[in-house]
Amino acid sequence: MSRIKVLTIFGTRPEAIKMAPLVCALQADPQVESVVCVTGQHREMLDQVMQLFALRADFDLEVMVPDQTLNGLFARVIDRIDGVIAQVRPDFVLVHGDTSSASACALAAFHRRIRVGHVEAGLRTGDLERPFPEEMNRRVVDVVSDFMFAPTQTSRHNLLTENLSGKIVVTGNTVIDALAMTTERLKTDPALADQVKARYPWIDAQRKVLLVTGHRRESFGEGFVNISDALADLAERPDLQIIYPVHLNPQVRGIVMPRLGDLPNVHLIDPVDYLDFVWLMQRADLILTDSGGVQEEAPYLGKPVLVMRDVTERPEAVQAGTVALVGADRRRIHQAVARLLDDESSAAGFQRRINPYGDGRACGRIVSALLGRTFEEFSTAAERAV
Ligand code: UD1
Ligand code: UDP
Repeated sequence: MSRIKVLTIFGTRPEAIKMAPLVCALQADPQVESVVCVTGQHREMLDQVMQLFALRADFDLEVMVPDQTLNGLFARVIDRIDGVIAQVRPDFVLVHGDTSSASACALAAFHRRIRVGHVEAGLRTGDLERPFPEEMNRRVVDVVSDFMFAPTQTSRHNLLTENLSGKIVVTGNTVIDALAMTTERLKTDPALADQVKARYPWIDAQRKVLLVTGHRRESFGEGFVNISDALADLAERPDLQIIYPVHLNPQVRGIVMPRLGDLPNVHLIDPVDYLDFVWLMQRADLILTDSGGVQEEAPYLGKPVLVMRDVTERPEAVQAGTVALVGADRRRIHQAVARLLDDESSAAGFQRRINPYGDGRACGRIVSALLGRTFEEFSTAAERAV
């Protein structure tokens, strides 16, 4: 079997977390020459992940500017990645998910007639407005992909209905590989777990923890005002403490910081690195988020998740009853959090550990598929039982 050269490209925090274990798997395989390019769409939040997983980028496009526009960002990425693709001349370009980095780099590779592999292919809401612009990005990438690495049967099914030309492979989501690696690190290295714990001396053992994240464009403005108001209402509960690592986007911080910054029950902190965030998820009683990745991680950890969106491209855990959609709506958020805190039977249903998104072996499957090796695709226990 001949060696292949793989150029892996990513630029934001979630892409880096989900590509990190894949880069490790590519680097470990003697049949692969692995080259890594970061777009730098995120700067600080990307660098946190690079350090944690000891990743080194061969190329860094350094595209981020403060408060960047979608068109400006897209233009910088597609312009700067072209020279890297021309220089590296890979057999495959791998991109991830639904960001501007992913769609710009997939198109750049397509224009240079380089084969594209899309990691986390086939997620759909069917609504181009939600999430915006991600639903468009992931469709564009799938159109030009030779390999579509679908995490689940649902995503495979979505792709089948679109009559696309690439090959579909069901792999599980690589986020479960990253999460399993990280929980194992915390479990097997108690000194490391103690170091993380020591960074949060202000967490009150007597009060429940609500962990919050939010960044979606469709919630900018009124949505983040509603979310902040709901959190301010909840902060009045003496049995609760709110921990909120606030995304670095000025559109988010400009609303959240002035509204919640002075409330004693609300800990607004900067984005934390993945090790700390996994520790915080394990420590939390309840998670309130609009993040895609957190929707996939929390069910694996057995943590209830309320999602501040009206639709999701990750329906599997909603169907299983461990994730619920509450929109960016002040009253719905407040009621749903209160119910989970006050009604133990309602919380118990959400706390089941389920694994609809992966088994921790997605990256091995992707490498095997690229090399033409045989392997078994991902399936859930329920799917195998049928
Ligand atoms: C991006 C992705 C979104 C993904 C999200 C994960 C697109 C269009 N959006 O949205 O799909 O879910 O990342 O977080 O690709 N900033 C910093 N430092 C950082 C990161 C961001 O200062 O490390 C600030 C900058 O001012 C930047 C702004 O945040 O201009 C927006 O970043 P951008 O990547 O355009 O949008 P996100 O909302 O992060
Ligand atoms: N995360 C992190 N630090 C934080 C908040 C989140 O490492 O302070 C991780 C989280 O575990 C998940 C990912 O970042 O894996 C989600 O990123 P984000 O919400 O920005 O993007 P999305 O998942 O919506 O694309």
